[in-house]
Amino acid sequence: MQSRDRFLKAARCQNNDRPPVWLMRQAGRSLPEYRALREQHDFLEMLTTEKLITEISLQPWRRFHMDAVIVFADILLLPWKMGMDLQFIDGVGPKFSHLIESEEDLNKLKNIEPEKDLPFLLNALRMIRQETEKPLTPTLSHKGRGREDGNPALLGFAGSPWTVASYIMSDARDDSVVKQVLERLTEETIVYLNAQVEAGVDALQIFDSWGGNLSPQDYALWSAPYIKEIISALKPTGVPVILYVKESGPLLEQMVSTGCDVLSVGWETPLAEVKKFKKVIQGNLDPDILLKATPEEIRSATKKMLEEMQDYPGYIANLGHGVLPKTPVENIAAFVETVKTK
Ligand code: CP3
Repeated sequence: MQSRDRFLKAARCQNNDRPPVWLMRQAGRSLPEYRALREQHDFLEMLTTEKLITEISLQPWRRFHMDAVIVFADILLLPWKMGMDLQFIDGVGPKFSHLIESEEDLNKLKNIEPEKDLPFLLNALRMIRQETEKPLTPTLSHKGRGREDGNPALLGFAGSPWTVASYIMSDARDDSVVKQVLERLTEETIVYLNAQVEAGVDALQIFDSWGGNLSPQDYALWSAPYIKEIISALKPTGVPVILYVKESGPLLEQMVSTGCDVLSVGWETPLAEVKKFKKVIQGNLDPDILLKATPEEIRSATKKMLEEMQDYPGYIANLGHGVLPKTPVENIAAFVETVKTK
């Protein structure tokens, strides 16, 4: 079976030969070939150059042949293209020079026009698809890459309105402005994700990385309803939606209520808890194990996770959060290989 079919079968809870595997934040700093490119280019330049996006998205797949390729982008690309002034400070991370505090700030934001504002991303999605559909070369198959590794699923993504708002809002604002920002981000995220679907993605992930900081009561006010609106707007496309929340334990029921197809959970949430909801599950090996353990220990932790999920229909092997930057490549290889060969 080819990777893309395997991934979609898992996402749709159909019988499979084995769980598909990929890693959140697989395209990035854990790879020496990413760091080499990063030395030559500014991060925002990398995010907006279609050849670089294509190359960086494919780097992990060329090395490890995961079942899915996630496009190299960032959840902050959307607010940036809505007109917020984004900077990436080396060693620190993202910073907006003006945060949203008032309705006036909010009104300065513009609606995105994907083909005009994001051609680099949409063209990169099309290029990635072309590259991964090329017939296998003899050299590659010599390295042990069989047909079953061909044709990975292509994943697009966005941040949840709440998680994106956490980066663009000033602390000095009132709740009615927050609400308007969330509504605005919801509308734009629908346009943004629909454009990714039109450019050919097989599945979408919504990163609600900061949702777990909210109490269940607050999650019901500030995050779940907006995610739900996005997912129902995307339903007609038929593209499965994965919802990721870190520290998801107390929020599982609400995650289900958003109508997502796949629950992607943090490593601190026991999979036995998640199984009760009878949804497709993605996760959730601790990224710290991948960073610090030996390949042998990683193989055994991965096997334990796979055994726990063995008879569960609808499972995608992944981490409980993104790959940490200093994770050794042989550890990533040990994780992917174990899922593929167990
Ligand atoms: O999964 C992938 O490989 C696709 C690429 C991807 C990036 N960011 C590239 C990136 C994805 C899916 C993201 C999502 C993202 N971005 C999230 C949600 C997921 C999560 O990890 O919680 C968040 C909160 C962001 C915002 C962001 N981008 C931060 C806070 C930072 C700096 C700290 C950090 O984690 O790197 C970034 C920068 C960033 N985004 C890098 C990459 C490869 C590193 C930039 C560099 O090379 O210096």
